[in-house]
Amino acid sequence: MATPHINAEPGDFAPAVLTPGDPLRARRIAEAVLDDARQVNDVRGMLGFTGTHGGRPLSVMGSGMGQPSLTIYATELFDRFGVERIIRVGTAGGISPDVAVGDVVIATGAHTDSAMNRLRVPGVDFCAVADFHLAAAAWRAGVEAGLAGRLHAGPIISRDHFYFTPQGQTEALARYGTLCVEMEAAALYAVAAEYGGRALAVLTVSDHLLDHSRDMSAAERETRFADSLRLAVAAALS
Ligand code: HPA
Repeated sequence: MATPHINAEPGDFAPAVLTPGDPLRARRIAEAVLDDARQVNDVRGMLGFTGTHGGRPLSVMGSGMGQPSLTIYATELFDRFGVERIIRVGTAGGISPDVAVGDVVIATGAHTDSAMNRLRVPGVDFCAVADFHLAAAAWRAGVEAGLAGRLHAGPIISRDHFYFTPQGQTEALARYGTLCVEMEAAALYAVAAEYGGRALAVLTVSDHLLDHSRDMSAAERETRFADSLRLAVAAALS
């Protein structure tokens, strides 16, 4: 039955869903990786598609930007549409000096400055971690694709603000080995934990917070994005 944000029927989604933030990117991903894709959601323009990849069912749907938006869609997918695996594919800003623009990051865990996960377990700083098996499958696919030198696995941060950062925070996160920043993974990992689902974020580094001289153009973002998409598809169908 339809939910407030997804006008689909049970069975319309595959067990595995790729979730970019941008619904138009969801359409481009569906065109690129799905056979026989059909649109399964259009509420609020948050386009969703289901088809097959190599004969296996696979869905793609936008999550919107930020943890509240992603939480709504991930909750409904896990809880109401029988989805088992959600793999976020997106871009991120580099934080660690070891990470360069164009690299791919497998987010094994996500710090957050959001209050959303703090509310989940009273008195606890929730530990938002990726599903180990999905992360391992993505890593294997990256190595097989020859990305080893540009592939990273480790902690990231999911921030609420895009344009505001407390002074010194980025440098401190870099000292603690944080690879990059985006805005959704910590919430995705928590929703997966809540519903017994599995989740992963595979990110393309599109700019670097400590060195803006090599930020990607919009065209580069699309082509370099193909690397992380390949890893995400491999993990989704692992
Ligand atoms: N924050 C900062 N820079 C970024 C982000 C972000 O969420 N995503 C891509 N570059």
